[in-house]
Amino acid sequence: MNGDELKLAAETFAQELRGKIEREQGGVATFFNNFLLRTIRELNRLDPALPWEESTRRLGGVTGERLRRGLALLRGHLAARARGRFVAYHERLPVIPEAAPWASDIDQAALAMSQGTTDCLQWRGMPLFKTAFDMSIYAMLVWEQKPRTVIELGSGSGASALWIADLLAVSGIDGHVYSLDVQPPEIECPHVTFVAGDCRRIEATFPAASMARWPHPWLVIEDAHVNVAGVLDYFHTRLQPDDYLIVEDSLQKRKEISVFVNKHTGSYEVDTRYTDFFGRNATCAFDSIFVRR
Ligand SMILES: C[S@@+](CC[C@H](N)C(=O)[O-])C[C@H]1O[C@@H](n2cnc3c(N)ncnc32)[C@H](O)[C@@H]1O
Repeated sequence: MNGDELKLAAETFAQELRGKIEREQGGVATFFNNFLLRTIRELNRLDPALPWEESTRRLGGVTGERLRRGLALLRGHLAARARGRFVAYHERLPVIPEAAPWASDIDQAALAMSQGTTDCLQWRGMPLFKTAFDMSIYAMLVWEQKPRTVIELGSGSGASALWIADLLAVSGIDGHVYSLDVQPPEIECPHVTFVAGDCRRIEATFPAASMARWPHPWLVIEDAHVNVAGVLDYFHTRLQPDDYLIVEDSLQKRKEISVFVNKHTGSYEVDTRYTDFFGRNATCAFDSIFVRR
């Protein structure tokens, strides 16, 4: 989208956004709502004869830099709205992934700091290896999806399993968390079962016959980073439509994920409501919050 087409789309979007703020948000705009509306207002003050790209290119100093960044975010936002919420994995990848491996609106330092700087994020006083973004994303996803079974691969301190169980409880969901680790924590908690096992022998740890009894929807979280391809394949035949599969820290697992998704064309879509909630890929699960179709 360029030139007049972009200007028209931005105007239509601004009108819709003002309506949404009034109707759905009780008249309260978010920072991002205000940012986009202000950007559109400022862009509209530029030379009407020129495309915004050209006008902003000619602008110098801090204002030019700010408006170019605003324009880029506005364009990204409009394009994402046009694509819709659920998107095929291959549509998410940069044209040349090797050339642009960091396909995120959040820079590497900001994402690094989002797990905590002086300390690691905590839950119930235990280290929780999530980003601040993912803590909010999971809370919203659990509320919306209402998983009856959560399978976590990689327990860490155990905080993440307890935290998900707490989310289930406050959301009024009758669910259970199974958390697998080679060295599971010694924690007793209702609605959480810590399982000793190895992702390299996933079928021995979670036998098909046991899993067949676990109620759906499922939320499967791969956070052990071992035998990713084998684990994804193992869960594929057990997942049902509307189950979720989240592969954390997925930047290093792109190859395995691509092979997996290509093998099962049409079976998985990226839920961009969550991957992009705080900006494109503002999550550790780069392009890898999947819903099973
Ligand atoms: C990144 S941590 C998990 C963090 C936790 N899910 C959280 O969000 O706080 C990865 C965990 O995977 C476990 N792990 C490593 N190799 C494994 C394997 N082969 N099978 C199962 N778990 C493994 C480690 O012991 C470690 O606790």
